[in-house]
Amino acid sequence: MNISKICCIGAGYVGGPTMSVIAQKCPGITVTIVDINEQRIAAWNNADLSKLPVYEPGLAEVVAEARGRNLFFSTDVDTAIAEADMVFISVNTPTKTYGKGKGMAADLKYIELCARQIAAASTSDKIIVEKSTLPVRTAEALQSILHNTGNGVNFHILSNPEFLAEGTAIQDLHHPDRVLIGGENGEAVQALVDVYASWVPRERILTTNLWSSELSKLTANAFLAQRVSSINAISELCERTGANVDEVARAIGTDSRIGPKFLKASVGFGGSCFQKDILNLVYIARTYGLHEVADYWEQVIIMNDHQKRRFADNIVQTMYNTVSGKKITFLGWAFKKDTNDTRESAAIHVADALLSEEANVVVYDPKVTAQQVYADLDYLCSRSPEENRRLVTVVNDPYDAMESAHAVAVLTEWDEFKTYNWHRIKDSMMKPAFIFDGRKLLPDNKLGQIGFQYYAIGE
Ligand code: NAD
Ligand code: UDX
Repeated sequence: MNISKICCIGAGYVGGPTMSVIAQKCPGITVTIVDINEQRIAAWNNADLSKLPVYEPGLAEVVAEARGRNLFFSTDVDTAIAEADMVFISVNTPTKTYGKGKGMAADLKYIELCARQIAAASTSDKIIVEKSTLPVRTAEALQSILHNTGNGVNFHILSNPEFLAEGTAIQDLHHPDRVLIGGENGEAVQALVDVYASWVPRERILTTNLWSSELSKLTANAFLAQRVSSINAISELCERTGANVDEVARAIGTDSRIGPKFLKASVGFGGSCFQKDILNLVYIARTYGLHEVADYWEQVIIMNDHQKRRFADNIVQTMYNTVSGKKITFLGWAFKKDTNDTRESAAIHVADALLSEEANVVVYDPKVTAQQVYADLDYLCSRSPEENRRLVTVVNDPYDAMESAHAVAVLTEWDEFKTYNWHRIKDSMMKPAFIFDGRKLLPDNKLGQIGFQYYAIGE
């Protein structure tokens, strides 16, 4: 099967960068990314590349190269589906907020809507690719919907989970550790292998059966998150014993069986994937009656919630058990550096805990808007939107943000925080000047010498 037209449904953090790179690397394939969100599509089409809806280093350059040549962004979903040989589904699969499985299971309503729309709009055979992260055996449901509601055309379903991490999406897409393709139909699998083989070495393209591919995505995220929770658990023990978590991480990470990556202790992992995907894995295990399996993985989330909570508790305790009316400046709001994404960011939960103690929180993040900060807090429904706006201020200049602050809390590991003039900052702050470093980012001995009261995770 020769692929000349690809449609991708969902122009988000995955669909946008992934399809832009396919278009960049396969100039012979026309790639159309569609979304029902008109604002998002308009932003992807913005002539000013700094206004793209997703911030990723290197993304603007890729879009500049391919957009208008063989990369298009559109809200006309039906036409793009009808014309395509291959349709990627890259819509959101958030945790359910209602009904059975509320708070655990993946909400598949957007996936089902896509399937029904594909079935209705298709007048020729197509390969359907699951790009979204899905519960194992979702392809079965997709097949049933496509087959029963379609126009009699053939659909081959493939699973092709995405392993990019935000902040390094373009690098990850250009040089993936592996591409995973699950499917039952050899020709369809080969067609997708051929797309990736334009730039990915063939030995890095793994093919499996559908269910292994679907399950591997949840498993990969569970393993990665588990490493973060494991080192975070040790960080608490370090704080009690005089050990230093970075030193422990280095010591164990040099064992080639353990490896050095994903051992950075933090205020807790965030992002749209880890929590959602582990909750989903736990739910699936429970559904099959595998309670020990479910409890095992649930502990990763329990540990992460504990880490966020104890970071906030430590701030309150250290500041003489009261932060009421005190100005606490957050450096960073994004869930990690080099992204404007704030979904499940630890900052949101730490702020919520401090706001409940009536702190005045001031936020500085180089890429996150004030509108987003308020939306994240309002979504929690812990207090009224007016109250959030009364207690929280978002500032564009870091020095202004820290002036007269009682404490600074580092929530995201943005590189620029390391370059600040900390002498100047200390002089402008209330005394004692506290720093709570949730990323173990700043040089502790230097800040101690300047006169800060410096507290870091795992130290
Ligand atoms: P996102 O919310 O950024 O984007 C999803 C987009 O799909 C939205 O713009 C939404 O408007 C659109 N959409 C929803 N239903 C639609 C429909 N019926 N028709 C057209 N458009 C529709 O989500 P994301 O972060 O890109 O994640 C997408 C999927 O990829 C999820 O399953 C996620 O788990 C998975 N994933 C995400 C990451 C990541 O780093 N964000 C990494 C790997 C996998
Ligand atoms: C993750 C997976 O890495 C990626 O493969 C998958 O496709 C999507 O989910 P992402 O959530 O974008 O990617 O970022 P990641 O780098 O994994 O970081 C997730 C969270 O863990 C961030 O909050 C990060 O700060 C935190 N983290 C990561 C740590 O606290 N310590 C670490 O050592 C690594």
